[in-house]
Amino acid sequence: MEPSKEYLFEYKGVYFVTNTSLEYVASLEDFEIRDSDIFLATYPKSGTVWTQNILSLIIHEGHRNGTENMETMDRIPWLEYNLKNMDYANLPLPRVFATHLPYYLVPRDLRKKRACVIYVSRNPKDVMVSYYHFSKYITTVEEITDFNLLMERFLAGKVVAGSWLDHVSGWYSHAEDFNILFLTYEEMKKDLRSAVLKICNFIGKKLSEAEVDSVVRQATFENMKKDPRANYENLPDDMAAKDKGSFLRKGTVGDWKNIMTVAQSERFDQVLKEKMKTLPIKFIWDINDEM
Ligand code: A3P
Repeated sequence: MEPSKEYLFEYKGVYFVTNTSLEYVASLEDFEIRDSDIFLATYPKSGTVWTQNILSLIIHEGHRNGTENMETMDRIPWLEYNLKNMDYANLPLPRVFATHLPYYLVPRDLRKKRACVIYVSRNPKDVMVSYYHFSKYITTVEEITDFNLLMERFLAGKVVAGSWLDHVSGWYSHAEDFNILFLTYEEMKKDLRSAVLKICNFIGKKLSEAEVDSVVRQATFENMKKDPRANYENLPDDMAAKDKGSFLRKGTVGDWKNIMTVAQSERFDQVLKEKMKTLPIKFIWDINDEM
């Protein structure tokens, strides 16, 4: 039942992939913030790479018009996984970081409403199914072929970034401490243009209609899947992919129905759905559900 120490270590109630260190994660509370910083916070498999790509397209003209060819991970590195040993203090401004940290482990100054935080969440059944497939794809995550076991680990929070519920409810219930924009994967899926405009508005970036159109076009699942940078095809060795699958897998709402049995779905609901009622979000479990 316990996750393998080879893959995960625990720090203050959450789990981290072992390609970072406990000392480094602990140091991040003192990480120095610039007012222009943007942090993209998510629970894994909730649309992080998608939103990273959208932010990069919005902020960097050279990405939008195809004149610059830079890896997503170099543009928007992971705060707690500095896999390329980049000098985070001296990145060009605005710095943008992606993170799976819970609200209580992020740089302290963010809690003084400094910088911008964008938090994206996704319905947890799709998150779990996406994690299941991801564990088969990426070498840094323990592969769990038994879906029941994976589900029990997920429900117990013994996966990367810990408990899904704690992550999402923590960020929502501490929203007042942060300068934060909340988005959901499902709303981005239903109306990508509105989500792009919300992000532009939040980070104070004015784009022309044509530029917004270009961001939206390049951020669709189909177009992103064709882009090796967005698809993370050039990962560093210590995060390499196995040869099956790809980072952009299916990109739909409700894929959980294709894998979870009725009994599994009921078990999931029994453990999580009641507790989810405390969340101020209406989750979309099927693409045909009303927002
Ligand atoms: P699936 O495994 O359900 O396909 P993260 O980046 O947080 O790890 O999330 C990965 C999930 O986001 C994957 O879900 C991936 O396919 C999906 N995704 C990535 N880019 C997307 C896009 N442009 N549109 C829709 N979904 C996208």
